[in-house]
Amino acid sequence: MAEFTKGFLWGGATADFQYEGGFNEGGKGLSTHDFETDGSLEKPRMITLELADGTRGEVPTRESFPDGAEAKIYDDQYYPSHKAVDFYHHYKEDIALMGEMGFNVFRFSICWPRIFPTGDELEPNEEGLKFYDDVITELEKYNIQPLITICHDELPDYLARKYDGWSSRHVIDCYVRYATTVLERYKGRCKYWLTFNEINAVNGYAQIGTHKQDEQTVYQAKHHMFVASAKVVKIAHEIDPENMVGTMYALSQMYPKTCNPQDIMASYMKRRNNLWFIDIMARGYYPNFTDQFFEERGVKLAKEPGDDEILREGTLDMVTFSYYRSMTISKDTKLTWAMGLLGGDPNPYLESTKWGWPIDPIGLRYTLNELYDRYQKPLFVVENGLGEIDVKEADGTVNDDYRIKYLAQHFEEMKKAVNIDKVPVLGYTMWGNTDLVSLSTGEMKKRYGFVYVDLDDKGNGTGERSKKKSFEWMKKVCHTNGKDL
Ligand code: BG6
Repeated sequence: MAEFTKGFLWGGATADFQYEGGFNEGGKGLSTHDFETDGSLEKPRMITLELADGTRGEVPTRESFPDGAEAKIYDDQYYPSHKAVDFYHHYKEDIALMGEMGFNVFRFSICWPRIFPTGDELEPNEEGLKFYDDVITELEKYNIQPLITICHDELPDYLARKYDGWSSRHVIDCYVRYATTVLERYKGRCKYWLTFNEINAVNGYAQIGTHKQDEQTVYQAKHHMFVASAKVVKIAHEIDPENMVGTMYALSQMYPKTCNPQDIMASYMKRRNNLWFIDIMARGYYPNFTDQFFEERGVKLAKEPGDDEILREGTLDMVTFSYYRSMTISKDTKLTWAMGLLGGDPNPYLESTKWGWPIDPIGLRYTLNELYDRYQKPLFVVENGLGEIDVKEADGTVNDDYRIKYLAQHFEEMKKAVNIDKVPVLGYTMWGNTDLVSLSTGEMKKRYGFVYVDLDDKGNGTGERSKKKSFEWMKKVCHTNGKDL
């Protein structure tokens, strides 16, 4: 069996508020996610609030706040981000395990309020910067390259409260100051950077800091994020011409339900509504059809003179994406919020995970080809993986053969894209290589990792790390550059 291209990067991916913990240590400010409770498939996660009249309230993470409500932390609620799985105190051990597996890349996000506690300061928090210095030093010991997400679905809570998050242009300046600080600080030690995570899917208070959820507010916020990202791409190149900058997109594939042209058109249009986020950021301008898209929704974007030029000058170096599943679309399919990335009809050809995500390895090859055909830029699969309920046996083992099967099938298809279709793929980082908190449900029991973490949904447990069966399998994959699956 062939291996992957020489220098292919193999690793894992995490996000600070799902992994790091230490929410009130090292001078860190509060993040929007620090107000988000745990949940489950049946019970949505909530942002806890104090209402204008002083009484208590809660709103689902992706809904608007009632007027005058303020986010609050309550003692009788569990907030998973506060402790997460405590990478803050376990980073040496976790990175040693990554080194043992043979990773040569590790994707993590820097916690914005750890560096700028309110987001409005002019000077950064040195203790926060030092923490990531230490993380990178540890990675260097094992020849693991960092891949840094500058902003993974969050912002300092202060910026959300005071300015209504990304709906305000002011946040562009705060973000550029923050991004410039970390680009300068870690210059020469990190080459791969992502300006945002899943920019085509994020919405709601916890993710973009807006109190309102109407389309005008959300798309205006996205415009500000596009401008902020483009500015940072340009700055990243000025700081170090070696920097490769991307933004991450949620790109689970979409298929027409039948060959009825109406289904095909519906599926095409929904896919395009995802891809235009990349069109803007990789090509540098809003495509023509977005005029109609915004008109249909009554959205009028406020652009400032110079915005179009900024977008043109700050195009991405690579296209990076998450791929978990595919969706089936008919002319009648109504996708739900998360910017129309949830829902879809059942696909009779595919099995689904316990959380209802269809498992579709061929969809990964399809997506890689689709993206390269459209953008002609190097690609990086920065999230993929299987969330499952892992059982720790009496002898301490976790026999996650289902995870090995899922990954092997996806790697086979990725290998075809690389070796047969000649798609330039820089690397692959599996989501949650060390077990961490689920974004959608806030649970621990939805586990992705090669490494088991002894914590339950409420954060009870020792936090001890242990290797699952998939750990040894992944070690073989890394050491043979994907030859041995
Ligand atoms: C992606 C996010 O959407 O999917 C991650 O970038 C997230 O933050 C991952 O954890 C998997 O989703 P979940 O809900 O299973 O954690």
